[in-house]
Amino acid sequence: MNSNNTTKFQKTCKPKIRKEFETLYTNWRSNNGSAGYNEFAKLKEQVYPTGLVMINENNRYKTDFQFPDPDLSKTVAINMMPIVVEDLSTYTDDTLRYRDIIKVCSHVSGLHNKKCYLTIHESWVAPGLTQRRKGLHVESPRIGEGKNEFYYWGQGECLVDRPDGGIFMASNVTGSCEVYNVKIDTDAIGLGGDIEHLRSALPKDSRKLLKAGELVWITDRTPHSSLPVDHLVYRQFFRLVTSNISAWYSQHSTANPLGCEVGENILIINENKFTSDATAPGSDTSTSTLCSII
Ligand SMILES: [Fe+2]
Repeated sequence: MNSNNTTKFQKTCKPKIRKEFETLYTNWRSNNGSAGYNEFAKLKEQVYPTGLVMINENNRYKTDFQFPDPDLSKTVAINMMPIVVEDLSTYTDDTLRYRDIIKVCSHVSGLHNKKCYLTIHESWVAPGLTQRRKGLHVESPRIGEGKNEFYYWGQGECLVDRPDGGIFMASNVTGSCEVYNVKIDTDAIGLGGDIEHLRSALPKDSRKLLKAGELVWITDRTPHSSLPVDHLVYRQFFRLVTSNISAWYSQHSTANPLGCEVGENILIINENKFTSDATAPGSDTSTSTLCSII
């Protein structure tokens, strides 16, 4: 356990739990990560309810990146396009511009040759509107009313020394995205991942408004929402969903024109997610609010 995590741990845990945790962690590590992980992870869930990690806060992971210069004359709308992180032949021109940020994600989470799913959304956004999906939601939606089934998008778990799986996200507009540092239990997730009904119950001090250029890592059960902007702005949104996804909506996602296919064993859904029973009607405006006003 590195010193930063130890300090945080000492602040948040009772000594008895901490001792038990450290013993389990040591056992797991001494088994080269091959045994004892379940016990370690179970206790960790109790003491590290981590739903997000600020990647470039205090230069935590020694990151150094900037959003690429925008082309204000056009809209870019790439959604969940498969790329292989270290294979530049899978990057289109618009996605190659975000290579520096993707390299940071890879450095933090060990993505290397994994297939991940990239969203780049660059567009003008009018005052009072959101660029992306509004309403508090998670990215692991309940599917089918009354059914206890979920799709997952990267899942995500915060290991002691780094985040694993999950989703990276950033924008160039301060205050246009909110996230809560909690992980929602599946029982509470609504159709389409909607959790607006939980807003009043979430700890207020766990809410974070992202600043321009802040890269955040979240799990697919971390509450977040796009927020309305208060003035006309050209917003650049970046999201990288890591490899472990269970479904890909062909009507709402971008096929890679360079031939990089969606990963194996991933369900390709060809129906419209807004009219299927997989999502609550109108709950997901992530691709319908392409706010191109110029
Ligand atoms: Fe979202």
